[in-house]
Amino acid sequence: MIVRRAEPHDLHGILAIVNREIREGVAHFGTSEHTLGEMKGWLAQARRMPLLVAVDGAQGVLGYAKAGRYRDRQAYDWAVEVGVYVCPGAQGRGVGRALYDLLFPMLEAQGYRVLIAGIALPNPASVRLHEAFGMRHVGTFPGVGFKHGRWIDVGFWSLAMGDGPPSPVVDAAP
Ligand SMILES: CC(C)(COP(=O)(O)OP(=O)(O)OC[C@H]1O[C@@H](n2cnc3c(N)ncnc32)[C@H](O)[C@@H]1OP(=O)(O)O)[C@@H](O)C(=O)NCCC(=O)NCCS
Repeated sequence: MIVRRAEPHDLHGILAIVNREIREGVAHFGTSEHTLGEMKGWLAQARRMPLLVAVDGAQGVLGYAKAGRYRDRQAYDWAVEVGVYVCPGAQGRGVGRALYDLLFPMLEAQGYRVLIAGIALPNPASVRLHEAFGMRHVGTFPGVGFKHGRWIDVGFWSLAMGDGPPSPVVDAAP
């Protein structure tokens, strides 16, 4: 397995993973499937908001990790939301950890100062993964989403990086 930045030929594999979670799971709160056009949009922004894949020669894309803007207003410029999805057949084998091993230092090098993850609960694997990277639970919105016939709590985990005034966030190094 290797972990690297996503390339155009990875987009179908990423799309399959995210759309399966949208259709069948609750970790992703979407209820309508993404399109290839949206994936191309993710890739177009990936220098500022990295999109990484874990790939295996035989199986293709095993998982992806993505950064996304937390909220639009400018004072949030240094906050970034992280997300990670691994295909069911590859879970529990270190793929999520390998993706974050590359993503977190990349975001820190770009100048982001706060990493945020929202986790639909319960999700012990995701909680374990995020806490293994130093993220701490900061609160939970009870019943904030409704999917597959039930109300779902979302917990938020965050990690602060660096002290003092921030520098402008830059694109990830090529
Ligand atoms: C959550 C997810 C990303 C974790 O990725 P993964 O590749 O399965 O996890 P890893 O094998 O890298 O394991 C990461 C940590 O979680 C632990 N873990 C993995 N599966 C677990 C499980 N079912 N229960 C409890 N802990 C678990 C591992 O032991 C490891 O911790 P450790 O290094 O301290 O031992 C993956 O399971 C997944 O994609 N799930 C469905 C989508 C999802 O929930 N995404 C997260 C959205 S917030």
